Amino acid sequence: MESGKILAIFAAAFLLLAGAASAQDACIDCHKIATPSLVKDFKSGAMGKEEVQNPSASKMAGNAAEIPCTSCHGSLHTTSTDFARAKMPTPETCETCHAPKVVEFKAGKHNFAWAAMHAMPTTKDQPKEIIQGQKGCGGCHKMGTKTETGLEKYRYGVASCDSCHTRHSFSTAEARRPEACLPCHMGFDHPQWEMYSTSKHGVIYSVEGSKWDWSKRLSEADYSAPTCQLCHMQNGDHNVITSWGFLAVRLPEKDEKWLANRLEILKALGVLDAKGNPTPRLDVVKAAKVARLTEEEWQALRDKKLKVCYKCHSQTFAKQNLENADAVIKEADVIMADAIKTVKALYADGILPKPSHYAELPSYPYPDLLRFYEVQSPIEQDLYLMFMEYRMRAFQGAFHANPDYMHWYGWAPMKETLVRMKDEAKKLREEAVVKAELEKAKATPAPTPAPAKGICGPTAIAAIAALPLALYALYRRRK
Ligand code: HEC
Ligand code: HEC
Ligand code: HEC
Ligand code: HEC
Ligand code: HEC
Ligand code: HEC
Ligand code: HEC
Ligand code: HEC
Repeated sequence: MESGKILAIFAAAFLLLAGAASAQDACIDCHKIATPSLVKDFKSGAMGKEEVQNPSASKMAGNAAEIPCTSCHGSLHTTSTDFARAKMPTPETCETCHAPKVVEFKAGKHNFAWAAMHAMPTTKDQPKEIIQGQKGCGGCHKMGTKTETGLEKYRYGVASCDSCHTRHSFSTAEARRPEACLPCHMGFDHPQWEMYSTSKHGVIYSVEGSKWDWSKRLSEADYSAPTCQLCHMQNGDHNVITSWGFLAVRLPEKDEKWLANRLEILKALGVLDAKGNPTPRLDVVKAAKVARLTEEEWQALRDKKLKVCYKCHSQTFAKQNLENADAVIKEADVIMADAIKTVKALYADGILPKPSHYAELPSYPYPDLLRFYEVQSPIEQDLYLMFMEYRMRAFQGAFHANPDYMHWYGWAPMKETLVRMKDEAKKLREEAVVKAELEKAKATPAPTPAPAKGICGPTAIAAIAALPLALYALYRRRK
């Protein structure tokens, strides 16, 4: 901190001791110097306003003119040096005044973000800066209940609610803008922002959005095109969840062919073992609401979503549109299952060596899709890309009215990757044959010296015969 700032803080502390200010004024006066923009943001928001509008919330707040800093940070920190005693709020802090929103939030998928991340077998392989330090996975997954992993370990990133309502203005108008979702719903495996913003809906938003009234509640919004929130937070409901979810698997399934392919995917997710019996991972799926486990649950969420479309589209148009997107999952699963079976066969036939963490694999010889990129062979890296990047884009693009993402970033690379994987599997098998031949030749005991035969003993013949094959295999690999 610059020395000028330190002096000013001491001056503020002095004024405070002189009894010139209330507790709230003390926080504000000192923080106007310590963190000036923060105070400005706070003052710009509904909770920092002198006049509180919402009667029920203001009653909870004891009709205070503004919400005191202490209602979220406690009152233990009062000087420029004891700031480690300040508390950081959790959703429970907000709950005292906003119970309905917190109850909705807790029922929804965002509340499981931290737990679902921790449930991934690959999470323990990551450096702690990425998870606990919230730089990678943990940076987006910091939302949600953390008690089971020890909340006390995390000083920052425990509030959840400031993900959409930026602290300290906590604005609802901001949270209604689709950009509020952008920091997390973008990129590699869930590019919803890219898909939305380049879809017809998103383009209308970018052309017309500046004229829309963002202060209106979602239930009264009269936008000419939908936003993320209009489709996913209907009437301001903080319980976000979709029918298919992130992994686009559901149980049960009436379509038999589709079910057969889905079972292959569920085995590769380790939710079912190689024989098709549930593993302990199914409990994680249930606890973190990763998949809808009854038809009713799936259909209710679908019907809810369709109601949004009906505001602007005909029922037939909307239904058909989403059914076509369902069918994209079905088609993508044909390719996905084929790819999984290709890798599984390599393990089953001993072509790929058993991974070192073999004992942890719930469905060996199936590969484990949930280890993401922590896999050893290029063919499994391809399988990971196919699942996490291309299949995701294919169906997510279909749901978000984005033909380009569906096709050229999703479907086409799925096809391309399958060809590459099959070719790789063939080469691995050819190499295995060569290796076996060479080993057999080495293992055959050399015959007692027979000078008449010169260098052409049976071992040498086998080795020489294997040589062109080996060279050919090497040549193809280099290509
Ligand atoms: C005399 C000055 C002073 C007063 C009074 C003061 N603070 Fe602070 N506070 C600071 C300084 C300086 C820091 C920044 C420490 C740093 O840069 O890491 C700080 C940090 C904080 C933090 C962040 C702590 C962290 O670990 O990052 C919170 C929260 C906070 N103050 C809230 C309050 C509240 C609430 C009040 C009123 C009850 C208050 N402050 C009163 C000076 C003050
Ligand atoms: C002591 C009670 C209290 C606590 C604790 C509290 N709030 Fe508020 N909140 C209020 C009041 C009062 C309003 C103003 C209502 C109004 O004017 O409509 C408000 C308004 C809001 C708004 C609406 C802002 C807008 O633009 O209309 C949001 C969002 C919000 N609070 C989020 C939070 C979050 C997040 C937390 C926890 C980190 C929290 N609040 C904690 C009392 C509280
Ligand atoms: C850029 C932010 C971001 C990063 C980084 C990130 N995730 Fe996610 N993750 C998300 C979002 C957003 C979703 C929801 C996507 C969807 O449903 O389409 C998600 C979904 C998931 C899910 C699915 C949960 C479910 O119930 O379906 C798991 C598990 C997961 N992430 C684990 C991880 C792990 C492990 C890492 C690091 C290796 C990671 N994530 C990195 C944002 C992120
Ligand atoms: C409605 C709740 C609420 C109120 C009121 C509130 N804060 Fe905060 N504050 C938060 C949240 C949420 C965080 C982020 C916590 C986390 O990391 O999870 C935070 C973090 C902070 C931080 C540290 C993080 C950073 O970005 O540097 C400081 C400093 C701070 N608040 C100061 C204040 C001061 C000063 C006031 C009063 C002017 C105040 N807060 C009022 C909710 C609140
Ligand atoms: C701080 C990062 C972050 C922000 C901001 C964020 N999300 Fe999420 N979202 C996630 C993560 C992480 C998940 C996955 C939760 C899990 O693992 O259970 C998720 C899950 C979801 C899901 C559930 C998908 C399913 O599995 O059915 C929906 C819908 C969703 N978010 C919509 C939104 C919308 C709309 C916004 C903006 C208003 C938004 N999110 C803002 C991180 C974020
Ligand atoms: C026109 C309505 C609409 C808009 C706008 C919209 N979505 Fe979706 N979203 C859907 C539908 C429909 C699904 C699939 C629901 C299902 O599973 O049946 C979906 C699915 C999702 C999922 C689950 C995984 C997936 O992609 O299939 C997430 C997460 C999500 N949307 C986030 C967002 C975010 C973030 C935005 C804004 C950038 C957004 N959505 C914009 C309708 C919309
Ligand atoms: C995924 C983004 C997102 C997250 C996370 C989020 N909110 Fe909201 N919040 C919104 C949106 C969008 C609205 C506007 C709803 C509307 O217009 O009806 C809103 C509105 C509100 C309001 C105003 C409600 C009213 O009726 O005026 C409060 C209060 C609020 N949120 C509190 C919270 C609290 C507390 C949390 C954490 C438990 C939270 N929000 C987390 C997006 C979010
Ligand atoms: C707020 C109004 C609104 C809502 C809600 C809405 N749309 Fe749209 N949608 C539009 C407008 C306007 C267009 C542009 C029509 C055009 O191309 O002329 C559009 C275009 C589309 C397109 C592009 C292709 C085409 O033929 O126009 C698809 C697909 C689509 N919407 C599907 C959906 C689905 C599915 C839902 C519900 C999940 C939905 N929309 C919700 C307003 C909306």
